[in-house]
Amino acid sequence: MSATLTDPEAIRGRFVEAMADRPEKLQKHANRVERGALHLAAVHELDRDICAAAAAGHDLFRHCKDAELLALSRSYSVPITEDELAAPIVLHGPLAAVYAREAMQVDHDEILSAITYHTTAHPDYSLESLAVFLADKVEPRKARNDPGLMAVAAAAEHDLYAAAAMFLERRLTSQLNSGQPLHPLAVASRNAFLRRAL
Ligand SMILES: [Fe+2]
Ligand SMILES: [Fe+2]
Repeated sequence: MSATLTDPEAIRGRFVEAMADRPEKLQKHANRVERGALHLAAVHELDRDICAAAAAGHDLFRHCKDAELLALSRSYSVPITEDELAAPIVLHGPLAAVYAREAMQVDHDEILSAITYHTTAHPDYSLESLAVFLADKVEPRKARNDPGLMAVAAAAEHDLYAAAAMFLERRLTSQLNSGQPLHPLAVASRNAFLRRAL
């Protein structure tokens, strides 16, 4: 078995290697997220290596369909709640983090937490995790298809908490309006970020 990875740069390298056999579209998305996260890291004086590593590995399982996500999550003992059963796509973050820890020997709690919760965010998210979360949500291709995201991107230049609260409010509102279930972590995160916004 290879050595445990604790250095963010080495972890990023391992994730980039693993992404090389993922669909090209997904690799390009991960590259855009990494660039965006590094930009936010520079603006807000955050740890660049943690941001880069979490961005590189956040979507290792984003290409999987719901049935595959459920099967893989069960085989890696990823907890599956009723909320995940209703929307299995949420599992691609927790599954990537558990797989990274168990199959790739990644041992870095903050990077793994950033990856685990990158769909819903988490009320205790670090600023590095928030930078990756926002870089993922407002990356250029998504913003081109949904110009409303430009306001979130602009807010992220000044206040990561305010921007994340704004993004989650947009998504929760649209889910409410279309009768979809709300993930409780997304609601708790929005409340926490609203309290912390400047
Ligand atoms: Fe994702
Ligand atoms: Fe993503």
